[in-house]
Amino acid sequence: MANDDDTVLDDPVAQSLGGRHARLARRLGRAATYLTGVATFSCVPADPGTEDWADLAGLLGPDAFADMFSSPAVPPPAWKPVFRLDGRQLIRPGGGRPVRPRGASDTGVVELGAQDVPEMLDLVARTEPGPFWPRTHELGTYLGVRVRGTLVAMAGERLRPPGWAEISAVCTAPEARGRGHAALLVSTLAARVEARGERPFLHVAESNTGAIALYERLGFRTRRQVTFQGFRTP
Ligand SMILES: CC(C)(COP(=O)(O)OP(=O)(O)OC[C@H]1O[C@@H](n2cnc3c(N)ncnc32)[C@H](O)[C@@H]1OP(=O)(O)O)[C@@H](O)C(=O)NCCC(=O)NCCS
Repeated sequence: MANDDDTVLDDPVAQSLGGRHARLARRLGRAATYLTGVATFSCVPADPGTEDWADLAGLLGPDAFADMFSSPAVPPPAWKPVFRLDGRQLIRPGGGRPVRPRGASDTGVVELGAQDVPEMLDLVARTEPGPFWPRTHELGTYLGVRVRGTLVAMAGERLRPPGWAEISAVCTAPEARGRGHAALLVSTLAARVEARGERPFLHVAESNTGAIALYERLGFRTRRQVTFQGFRTP
């Protein structure tokens, strides 16, 4: 039975670090972040106090990058803004109904693991789908498409609030685009998530109209607008 409670998607980093990803978390007080090399996302409680920001600074260290993901929390003035990016969060309202990709993909989907990390990092460097680190694949299942042995497309699971799995790192090498690889990978992952009784969701930058068109064609709809934010600790 799919989870109908989508309120956990309002703070997906905290919901993941406090639950499914607890084994990959570092904590101090009520602040938390991911282990180095897994992800840079950090969280403080909703409506944080001075002590919570001090705890996060203690966790990350001085002059360190604090990736607050989509949290609207405003840090103390000494925290320097690094980036702000408008985006949106999408869910698939018709959950439980696998969508077949329209584009033909003549290649099989393979599971990716630790041995594939150098190729995954290379593909990410060429396509820039968003943050991806040497241990990011430990957050969930990562799938790829290989053509004559070379990894040309991938996608995987990132944040894991209770009952949900975020599909992320969706990317296709420039020379392999328009052949349905991304559609195949996203729909395969979404079908796997739904088959285990969970629901898929996604985040995308507002400017990424190509990716938004792809996700909407696969049945995803915007749940809310978000602003991604990062800061440097004092
Ligand atoms: C977005 C991306 C993953 C699509 O990969 P792909 O394998 O070419 O995608 P598909 O072939 O499955 O495309 C399926 C559909 O998506 C849409 N689409 C994909 N790229 C598009 C673009 N640049 N502009 C408009 N529509 C696009 C089209 O509707 C396409 O349908 P079509 O079959 O009629 O062409 C690829 O362009 C990419 O790697 N981009 C850079 C990384 C990135 O932005 N990732 C998404 C992060 S949220």
